[in-house]
Amino acid sequence: MRIAAIVPAAGLGVRLGPGTAKALRDVAGTPLLVHAVRGLWSTSLVEAVVVAAPPQRTGEFEDVLARGVPDARVHVVGGGVTRQRSVAAGLEAVDSLGPVDAVLVHDAARAFVPVAVVERVVAGLRAGSAAVVPVLPVADTIKRVADEDVVTGTVDRSTLYAVQTPQGFRLDVLRCAYAETAVEATDDSALVEALGVPVTVVEGSEEAFKVTRPLDLLLAEALLERR
Ligand code: CTP
Ligand code: MG
Repeated sequence: MRIAAIVPAAGLGVRLGPGTAKALRDVAGTPLLVHAVRGLWSTSLVEAVVVAAPPQRTGEFEDVLARGVPDARVHVVGGGVTRQRSVAAGLEAVDSLGPVDAVLVHDAARAFVPVAVVERVVAGLRAGSAAVVPVLPVADTIKRVADEDVVTGTVDRSTLYAVQTPQGFRLDVLRCAYAETAVEATDDSALVEALGVPVTVVEGSEEAFKVTRPLDLLLAEALLERR
């Protein structure tokens, strides 16, 4: 099975606070994006990586990747104003890679995903699933809150899972999901669900957390020190 990766990295990182584009923020002296692409490439499970960068900064992103992951086959494309549009731009570029059977869509911001998680997603694809996502059980109790700041209910946590990346898809299925969609979703599997195609779950990892807020940078530094 020939697998390509699409890495949306065109976000601004507003929640991380002032600074350069989130994907270029250093963790232990190396840009987040380089950590993410190295992590995928080191699995030897993907044939090429398409990175969606902020449209005005594709040259800069190419340089950073050429320096940081010189052995990887990487293509940089201009991303869009939403994550979904960035993935769509990456999906178009997959055409130029030659024959590809499946794609892994992986957030640059989940730069420290363990190899085992990538392997579980790929194993699911190889076993015949059209869509595979890594998940973790929700740890917090979840409340429903009304406009008036009043709790209106407690959600049964036992069936709730937080979804991570990489999310694996048969290429034809993801293409169809993107062609059909009329909604804006925060992950790709939601678009596949809308087609009525079953989405399989595999075990994720706490180390696949998304660098979102300043505290996550501290966590990332600590994680790399321990590794
Ligand atoms: N992303 C993207 N294109 C966008 C928005 C997001 O490629 N227009 C990417 C981000 O670069 C990130 C992933 O989607 O790798 C997950 O998004 P998120 O964690 O929300 O990152 P940002 O959008 O950069 O952060 P924020 O929402 O705080 O601005
Ligand atoms: Mg965002």
